[in-house]
Amino acid sequence: MAAQEQPETLISESRIRERVELLARRISHDYADAGELLLIGVLRGAFIFLADLTRRLEIEHQVDFIALSSYEESDERSGAVRLIMDVRAGLESRHVLIVEDIVDTGHTLDYLKQTLVARGPASVRTCALLRKPSRVEVPVAVDYLGFDIPDAWVVGYGLDYGNRHRTLPYIGVIDPEGDAAEQPDRSET
Ligand code: PRP
Repeated sequence: MAAQEQPETLISESRIRERVELLARRISHDYADAGELLLIGVLRGAFIFLADLTRRLEIEHQVDFIALSSYEESDERSGAVRLIMDVRAGLESRHVLIVEDIVDTGHTLDYLKQTLVARGPASVRTCALLRKPSRVEVPVAVDYLGFDIPDAWVVGYGLDYGNRHRTLPYIGVIDPEGDAAEQPDRSET
């Protein structure tokens, strides 16, 4: 297998680690008296962020997963989102924290929050490692945010381009024109 060209670093491994530790301390503090917290990771991109965050929390909590996909109109995202795989846990009267890797247009997080709120939890908050403020179309609150970033194609730490670069330990930037990846196929998810 050919070696991959390494994307340019946007956020280093050590900056990510420090930020995840800070977020974990804040979440642990805020939910200390709230009863058991349920983290819901959004597949696939959030799996590495969630794995690091959950191991740093100092409070009792449980973990579940949900998978979503965007509907497409030709090559453009339409903004509509569909549920691919639901959580196993019941949410009634529970404190829920959605864990996302990135908020781009905001459609996914907005859809997910509305969907989960309708199930009668005690609360629903949001945690995202990355947000692109210049791309937001739906202004959904991010209660625990890692970093605001510019509008670039970012990969690593769970994020992919055409299913490549997900396991980079840092957040890197690629030029999709110059990257030899297979084309991103959002329809497969
Ligand atoms: C990414 C990311 C978010 C969503 C954000 O998922 O993980 O779920 O896009 O985009 P939005 O704010 O414009 O709705 P993606 O569709 O790339 O799937 P993946 O996580 O499985 O790679």
